[in-house]
Amino acid sequence: MKRDLILFGPPGAGKGTQGVLLADRLTLLRLSTGDVLRAAVRRGTPMGIEARRYMDAGELVPDDVILGIVRDYLAGEAAETGVVFDGFPRTLPQAERLDALLGELDRPVRAVLVLEVDDDTLIKRLSGRRTCGSCGALYNVFFEPPREADRCDACGSALTQRADDEPETVRRRLEVYNEQTAPLIDYYERSSTPLHHVDGDRPVDAVQRDLLALLGS
Ligand code: AP5
Repeated sequence: MKRDLILFGPPGAGKGTQGVLLADRLTLLRLSTGDVLRAAVRRGTPMGIEARRYMDAGELVPDDVILGIVRDYLAGEAAETGVVFDGFPRTLPQAERLDALLGELDRPVRAVLVLEVDDDTLIKRLSGRRTCGSCGALYNVFFEPPREADRCDACGSALTQRADDEPETVRRRLEVYNEQTAPLIDYYERSSTPLHHVDGDRPVDAVQRDLLALLGS
């Protein structure tokens, strides 16, 4: 049985940070719909050009675009391997469609892991986030600074700030999360999929230990 997991939580809760560690530790693939969209934006593909309008405004990209990404992923590299879904699903139609897709493949979601962090900390984390343009390593000028300002510890490349981490866009992303995505917690609470709440406002390794313990690993 494949071990598909959903990492859930508001922008800046640590889904990417924890998702990379979980995938490594449990030998899973990680699908970040945000990363796929940002790669498409960088390449200037038709999907990237369409998605960028929504992302820069802090809005959700239309469901049919996202579901196309997930369908292709499950039919391709993830056909034989469990997946950590990071940032997906984010709307009720996405959650319903994921259930249907995984049901057809006889691979029900093993658990939904909800990272909880208060809004003030989220805003500080997002404003301090820096990403390596080459290897994708994540830093935070407040919580996990690189050894040398604006340089990646791992590969020495320049660190950049995400366009949607501007204060006004961050506020809109938080509103969108509360309006359109947080209601999915109720959806999963009413389903047979196990859902766990985890305090995400602690050091990265403490959060990771809790996630692994909840998964019995
Ligand atoms: P996406 O890329 O998914 O962004 P997000 O959900 O807003 O989440 P973030 O990546 O901002 O945060 P995170 O929770 O991964 O935190 P991270 O680990 O980076 O989506 C971007 C956009 O794409 C969306 O707005 C939307 O437009 C579109 N999109 C994507 N998926 C979609 C979908 N399914 N449907 C529709 N549209 C979609 O950590 C943040 C910072 O905090 C980092 O600096 C990190 O170093 C630091 N940090 C992490 N953990 C800790 C800790 N424990 N202590 C201190 N600092 C920490």
